[in-house]
Amino acid sequence: MISSKLPKIFYGGDYNPEQWDHQTHLEDLELFQQAGIDIATLNVFSWARNQPDELTYQFEWLDEMIDSLYENGIFTCLATSTGAHPAWMATRYPDVLRTDKDGRKRKFGGRHNSCPNSPTYRKYSVEIARRLAERYREHPAVIVWHISNEYGGECYCDNCEKAFRVWLKQRYGTIEAVNQAWNTGFWGHTFYDWDEIVVPDNRSEEWGDNNSSFQGISLDYARFNSDSMLDCYRLEYDAIRSLIPDALITTNLMGFYKPLDYFKWAKYMDIVSWDNYPGLNTPISFTALAHDLMRGIKNGEPFMLMEQTPSQQNWQPYNSLKRPGVMRLWSYQAVAHGADTVMFFQLRRSVGACEKFHGAVIEHVGHGNTRVFRETSSLGHELQHLGEQLLDSRIEAKVAILFDWENWWAVEKSSGPTVALNYVEQIHKYYQAFYNRNVQVDIIGVDADLSRYELVIAPVLYMVKPGLAAKLEQFTEQGGTFVTTFFSGIVNENDLVTLGGYPGELRKLLGIWVEEIDALLPTMHNSIVMKDQLGSLQGSYSCGMLCDLLHTEGAEVLAEYGDDFYKGMPVLTRNTFGQGEAWYIASDGEASFVAGLMEHLSEQKHIQPVLDTPVGVEAGRRIKDGQAFIFLLNHNAEAATVELNSLTTVNMLDDQPVDSSIEIPGHGTVILAVK
Ligand code: GLA
Ligand code: ZN
Repeated sequence: MISSKLPKIFYGGDYNPEQWDHQTHLEDLELFQQAGIDIATLNVFSWARNQPDELTYQFEWLDEMIDSLYENGIFTCLATSTGAHPAWMATRYPDVLRTDKDGRKRKFGGRHNSCPNSPTYRKYSVEIARRLAERYREHPAVIVWHISNEYGGECYCDNCEKAFRVWLKQRYGTIEAVNQAWNTGFWGHTFYDWDEIVVPDNRSEEWGDNNSSFQGISLDYARFNSDSMLDCYRLEYDAIRSLIPDALITTNLMGFYKPLDYFKWAKYMDIVSWDNYPGLNTPISFTALAHDLMRGIKNGEPFMLMEQTPSQQNWQPYNSLKRPGVMRLWSYQAVAHGADTVMFFQLRRSVGACEKFHGAVIEHVGHGNTRVFRETSSLGHELQHLGEQLLDSRIEAKVAILFDWENWWAVEKSSGPTVALNYVEQIHKYYQAFYNRNVQVDIIGVDADLSRYELVIAPVLYMVKPGLAAKLEQFTEQGGTFVTTFFSGIVNENDLVTLGGYPGELRKLLGIWVEEIDALLPTMHNSIVMKDQLGSLQGSYSCGMLCDLLHTEGAEVLAEYGDDFYKGMPVLTRNTFGQGEAWYIASDGEASFVAGLMEHLSEQKHIQPVLDTPVGVEAGRRIKDGQAFIFLLNHNAEAATVELNSLTTVNMLDDQPVDSSIEIPGHGTVILAVK
């Protein structure tokens, strides 16, 4: 469990008493008690308060706050306050300010605003982390350390440029190797000296969001930027760790956040934590996917739901309220996918600045007689009732979907064949096919151990990193089913095409050769015509976006294109490889095709859904020491009945036995312990 001091699902969230007076704090304490809150994340944006000038540090306010919360039974998740630098620092040491992609040096303002390669930022962020660790190392209230806040963005300043060259030297050793990796013979970009290399901003190789003349340079800059921020995190981490050997240290991540390679980050986090902010129109399956990603980056370990809003955000174009019951439903959805905490941003709504219309447990009216407060307190009491039962339970999935940040960067930086290809949408499309049937999925990175899976799907595996093809071959040879799609096996880790025919390193495994890739206009379609019935798949399905023109080299053809000059060419193939099978889907098929195929493959592998449920009711399962807990999440506004078949269970929220079937109210959740 996260902490033996608080053996339950932590309940609380960001608390910013530095914005309030003492009287308000006393009122807060009273309301926190009522709501069953037991953890507060403190000090997230208080650097200026902690360090009013270069030489002075003042933490007395924080001492008082941690103590008074603790006296009221509330633990602290202590942030290091380095998510926004103080104004004096920017004035005195402009190197802390970032330079944006257009080359503009920023002035003081905003947050998440420090250059990750600023010597000043690094020096003072580590110093304050060290001082905090020194001060609170023995404090019984501090159970989690929260470094900075939502690392993100990028910087193109001169310090970053210099650091980029150093990073490149470490990666490549020689300038010749860099020239080769980037194919700089193209457009005469050969570099003869490290100092000729500049960061790829809008003044050099890039324009707009996703366009680059040299994908190799842009890809390395993306890696470098993610690493630079990770270095900042690690410097603070080490400062805390060296003083508190058993500290539990994290930083709050953001799900599918493109600029940072979280698989790499998670290696340096004691526990993953993340901030979940779906909009009212975010597909619920996408939130599920994001939770699974956050679980997947640290090998399936439980994670912290560090932030979510109790009601609404302020930063979306339309900040709808979470409907009655939905905050609870989405909290349990996080738990169903592996969260061991339920935390909010924030506990009290700000009086001024851009988050004053962001939802909070305590709203501007200042008392607890609100819908939001009633819902949060009722959830607080339920979590107290659940106690430690669910903590540390795991999800045991037999299906894995492979996801890779560098592949994401490379696919979407690619100039051609289409602008329509969105990597995460493809991941989601395959995920949804399982989600809709309550088949649990792990999201894994390229380093994961595949041996525990029956079915591994790698949509759009454009970049094949060293060793990956062999690993996939081994997985398949030993009986696994591997599935990949169009635009896979194209390049190596430097975005250089694997010569000799697509899909390059995957060609042998898939038993195919892709000769050409057609990109269709959004208004154009082709069709997937099944040769024979396959599970529920029969007849024809629409496809589009990209269409590979391929020849088989040992694979069997299960469906062909129905139109255009490549009518009759293979669009779905299966290659027997050792004891397993490798499938290739050569075009972007409609959802029902993907769903039918994934269902067929799961059935072939005897992979069972957690339960069959009515549409819109999600079923998840966590397991601990052989004990299964089933979550039934009704995302519909209307009640739904779930058949439990032969299961005998106990409803963990009211301790009543449940068997045969159960009715779940609209937006309701039930957690069942299986007997
Ligand atoms: C992020 C931040 C918080 C707050 C919320 C608002 O998650 O970490 O400080 O700004 O967004 O939704
Ligand atoms: Zn910089």
